[in-house]
Amino acid sequence: MQDNIEIIKQTKEFVKQRLTGEGSGHDWWHVVRVYNNAREIAKRETSADIFVVALSALLHDVADHKFGFSDDDRRNIITDFLARLQVQSEIIEHVVYIVNNISFKRGTNQHKMTTIEGQIVQDADRLDAIGAIGIARTFTFGGHFNRPMFNPEFDTNIVGQDNHTNDDTISHFYEKLLLLKDKMNTASGREFAIIRHQRMEEYLANFYSEWNGEL
Ligand code: ADP
Ligand code: NI
Repeated sequence: MQDNIEIIKQTKEFVKQRLTGEGSGHDWWHVVRVYNNAREIAKRETSADIFVVALSALLHDVADHKFGFSDDDRRNIITDFLARLQVQSEIIEHVVYIVNNISFKRGTNQHKMTTIEGQIVQDADRLDAIGAIGIARTFTFGGHFNRPMFNPEFDTNIVGQDNHTNDDTISHFYEKLLLLKDKMNTASGREFAIIRHQRMEEYLANFYSEWNGEL
C-alpha cells in the first residue's frame, strides 16, 4: 500500500478535477470545507480512524445522484480509483458505505450511520449546509435554478414542513436547514451546529424585518 499522505494527496487531485466549477453548491471548495470540518470533529472523537474520515470527506460528493449517478456507479468509480492506489479493500468498503449513506434524503429515510467515521463525515457535510456558508450556498443554488429568493404569498413557512410546492429559496430553510441541528450525530458536531443554527435564525429575522420595510 502507498503511504497514506500520498493517497490523500492523489485523492484531492482526483476530486478537484471532477468537481471544479460545479455550480449548485457541491464544488471543490465545498469538499475542502467538509474535509476541514471533518478533521476538526475527528480530533475531538478520539476513536475515529482519521484516514477513513479524510478519504470519505474528500470523496463524499463524487458521482452524486444529482448528476444522474446511481449508488452502483459511485461504488464502481470510488472502488476503481482507490484500488489503483492499493488502498485495502476493507477501507474501500467502509468509504463506499459512508459515501452511499451520507445524504440528507437518506437521513429522512431513517438511515443512520453505523460507524463513528460515517457519523463524523455526515456531521461535517451538514455543518456546511447551515450557518453563514449554508445561507450563501442556498441562495447560490436558488440562483442557479432561477428560483425567487422569497415569495411572501406562500407565507406558510413552518420548521419541518416540506414546502415542495414552494419554489422560493427561503422555504428551503424550513424544509431542511433549520432541522439539521437536531440531526447531528456527534457531541462536537452538535455544539458547532447550535452556533451555526443561531446565525441562520438571526439572518431570517433580519431578512423579514428588512423585507417588511424596517430601516
Ligand atoms: P445533500 O447533498 O445534503 O443530500 P442536497 O444536495 O439536496 O443535500 O443539498 C445540498 C445543498 O444545496 C443544500 O444544503 C442547499 O444549500 C442547496 N439546496 C438543495 N436544495 C435546495 C432548494 N430546494 N433550495 C435552495 N437550496 C437548495
Ligand atoms: Ni456535500
